[in-house]
Amino acid sequence: MFSDEAKRCQTNYIRRLLRYAHSDVISLAGGLPNPDVFPLPEEYNAIVNKLNLKKAFQYSSTGGINELKEELVNWMKTFNVDTNADNILITTGSQQGLYLISRILLNDGDPVFLEEPTYIGMINPLKLKDASVTSFELEDDGMNIDLLEEELERVKKLGVPKFIYVVPTFQNPSGITMSENKRKKLVDLANEYDFYVIEDDPYSKLRYEGDEVKPIKAFDDNNRVIYLGTFSKIFVPGFRLGWVVAHEGIIDKLALYKQNIDLHSTTYGQYVAAECLKNGIIQKVVSNAINVYGKKRDIMLKALEDYMENAKWTKPQGGMFIWLKLEGMDTEKLLEKAIQKGVAYVPGKAFSYYGGCESSMRLNFSYVSDEDIVNGVKKLAEVIK
Ligand SMILES: Cc1ncc(COP(=O)(O)O)c(C=O)c1O
Repeated sequence: MFSDEAKRCQTNYIRRLLRYAHSDVISLAGGLPNPDVFPLPEEYNAIVNKLNLKKAFQYSSTGGINELKEELVNWMKTFNVDTNADNILITTGSQQGLYLISRILLNDGDPVFLEEPTYIGMINPLKLKDASVTSFELEDDGMNIDLLEEELERVKKLGVPKFIYVVPTFQNPSGITMSENKRKKLVDLANEYDFYVIEDDPYSKLRYEGDEVKPIKAFDDNNRVIYLGTFSKIFVPGFRLGWVVAHEGIIDKLALYKQNIDLHSTTYGQYVAAECLKNGIIQKVVSNAINVYGKKRDIMLKALEDYMENAKWTKPQGGMFIWLKLEGMDTEKLLEKAIQKGVAYVPGKAFSYYGGCESSMRLNFSYVSDEDIVNGVKKLAEVIK
């Protein structure tokens, strides 16, 4: 009885396998924020005790409450992005933004450009649309823009994709950051060949070293970039709140679609998030996260140096993930053995539209204890050996 689209909506083998991992397995697989960085209960309670509950418990507009959009206009200034409330849509997590964007821009079978590896949560919405994907391998400073340009030139008569999707800063899963030059070049190409850049940016505030790089949106004078932000990694994921910054025409169409899904995102959560931005609580969460995750990143990098042989890995300046590459080994097959040994990770295949990246894996360092990072890496090195 299921529709063709519903039939394309499948859980994958990797998720099933990870579900069976016992609780005593050290999971470097998840992508969860560490609850130690969540706001302190007393500070949080002081905020919610002052809320106007008659407003906070009520329905609200699809686009989001003005109080939050105004706070986000200020927040975006800290990224060198000038915008205003009409260019912002509040979403139920940035995951909803990704889903909505794929629905308003793509017809079934349309071409799309991606990074390889790419964020798993964009793969599934594209599969629902049966998108025809071309992927561009990541280099140390982001996607290979020369190859992208060559491909654009090749397909320009057949039809250029409507968008390219990128996570340019501390990418999930690789931790890689796109250089400023490549960001500028990407915007130039978008203008020249007429496509959108979907910039998904959950991690850029979580920088542990190195100089800040402006988002691609900061170089966008022609409304070519559709930017997605989220409260999940800078505040709490449980409220399911994110936002999109784009041209008003895009925002209005996204809102029309959103109406069909949930009418609007949590009113209560939006008021809380707005107050927490205004009162500096989110800024505190960010600086806590930088301290806690920065240390955990160092611990994982040291453990990799100490125990891992015949492998290469990224050294991200921020975010929550390290990408490990092995030589000629299938990390999907290896996962069962790793789980038996008491450690889990996400195999690279999960981050590739057509099942590439077989010999890579994603390791998360934000969630597990410092001790478990070391033990997890040790166990993993033994399994690989
Ligand atoms: C790159 C990327 N995009 C989007 C999301 C989804 O985040 P949200 O919790 O806002 O839906 C995540 C979550 O891990 C992510 O890593």
